[in-house]
Amino acid sequence: MVKILIVFHSQTGNTRRLAEAVASGVSGTEKAEGDLKRAIDATAQDVRRCDAVVLCSPEYFGYMAGAIKDFFDRTYEELKDDAQSLKKPYAVVICAGNDGTGALNHIERLCKGYRFKRVQHPVICKGPVTKEVLAKCYELGRTIAEGVKLGIF
Ligand SMILES: Cc1cc2nc3c(=O)[nH]c(=O)nc-3n(C[C@H](O)[C@H](O)[C@H](O)COP(=O)(O)O)c2cc1C
Repeated sequence: MVKILIVFHSQTGNTRRLAEAVASGVSGTEKAEGDLKRAIDATAQDVRRCDAVVLCSPEYFGYMAGAIKDFFDRTYEELKDDAQSLKKPYAVVICAGNDGTGALNHIERLCKGYRFKRVQHPVICKGPVTKEVLAKCYELGRTIAEGVKLGIF
């Protein structure tokens, strides 16, 4: 069974819907399970125990949500030299009003510090959450689960 950790923060529910769509894509894959966690509850242990991480953040003030930054702040020291986290596959989902690049760039910079490995193009939702963007999130979840299962990431 492969385990995909999906870390999210959401104030008004938009990013939550995207994160849930990623989780559905994971659980729609045989022998894969999604571990959907609010960023404030996610720990270094969760990262160590999973096979891949999907970070789902709204863009606030041109940056990631404070709760996502807090997740990085709390886990960095423990994970930066951790062999189990080295090259851990990751992907990013951003929910924004009209941009999203600030949040994405800052998350990707931090992931480099963790030496995670980006294995999927990010999904950026700009404006309302549509069926199309939910389908992209579902697909991202399915692809990352399949890729980990097949050992291609
Ligand atoms: C405090 C605050 C700051 C925001 N800053 C940005 C921003 O810099 N760029 C942007 O595109 N959208 C911005 N937005 C819009 C949110 O990214 C957008 O409404 C998103 O869907 C919120 O996701 P959530 O429902 O998961 O919290 C901001 C919203 C809030 C509440």
